[in-house]
Amino acid sequence: MKAMLLLVLLLALLAACAPARPAPVELVQITASPTLAPLPTRAPTLAPAAGPTDTSTPPPSPTPLPTATLPPTATASPTPTRTPSPTPIPLCKERFPADDDLLALVSHDYGLAADYRPGDLVPLGDTFPSAVTRGYPTQVRAVIIPPLEVLIAAMHAEELRPFVVSGFRSYYDQNAARQKWAEQFPEWAHNISALPGHSEHQLGTTLDFSTPDLPYMVGEPFIEFHPAFAVSGEGRWLAERAHEFGFTMSYPDGKYEETGFNYEPWHFRYVGVELATELKESGLTISEYLLAAHGAPCRP
Ligand code: DAL
Ligand code: ZN
Repeated sequence: MKAMLLLVLLLALLAACAPARPAPVELVQITASPTLAPLPTRAPTLAPAAGPTDTSTPPPSPTPLPTATLPPTATASPTPTRTPSPTPIPLCKERFPADDDLLALVSHDYGLAADYRPGDLVPLGDTFPSAVTRGYPTQVRAVIIPPLEVLIAAMHAEELRPFVVSGFRSYYDQNAARQKWAEQFPEWAHNISALPGHSEHQLGTTLDFSTPDLPYMVGEPFIEFHPAFAVSGEGRWLAERAHEFGFTMSYPDGKYEETGFNYEPWHFRYVGVELATELKESGLTISEYLLAAHGAPCRP
């Protein structure tokens, strides 16, 4: 009996000192991690069901948690997250510059609506003699008449004889001009004549000048446009001084890469004295400047 009591005591003592059976590692980690505390209720939807073969794989990473907290419907539907867009920019072919903006960007990429025409067009012949208009029915915006008068007077004062070959061209006139060039020079047409909607002449603030000397310089009696204009008295004067009167050469020599147009020493656009002077000093073209300053005005 004594021996029996001793045996029972010994067994009780051994049971009290024995270490508890270690829990499986993954179970310890999951229940011990405070960051994963919410997991148990969501775990079944995040991870494949744990099975005997999962014991060697790492515990579920905390990274699934953020997605688990986002209700799928909240992100799936675009309606709640859609923000009202600001004034949408029009397609270039639907563009009407507000208030006949003097500084509307017009280039190969950014154009004008076919029906856009400025509201203050006037015949050049109302102000200038036929020596300047050549008798052509050229129209320009009234806003450029005063600076053009001052510029022409300054040239006349130096015994130069500029005349204006073209001013405003409607979308449809430009289409005809472009087709003419395309027939004559199919490979170069895109670099010498804009597509309709993409000519600065549609703004009514752009002029092509020439000189009575050009036919003699080039050896062609009826020529009105030629790069040789650059070395005529009129061409030199305009290149040097047009900015003082608010006009800028839109397609200078060496700017083909930027503008996409060949050198046009005869093509001047009115942008105001301040900006024309800034462009002259910086060497930027008007289209480079406007794109950098104001961004794309329409969707090509
Ligand atoms: N020749 C110029 C680029 C125009 O067509 O407007
Ligand atoms: Zn021109």
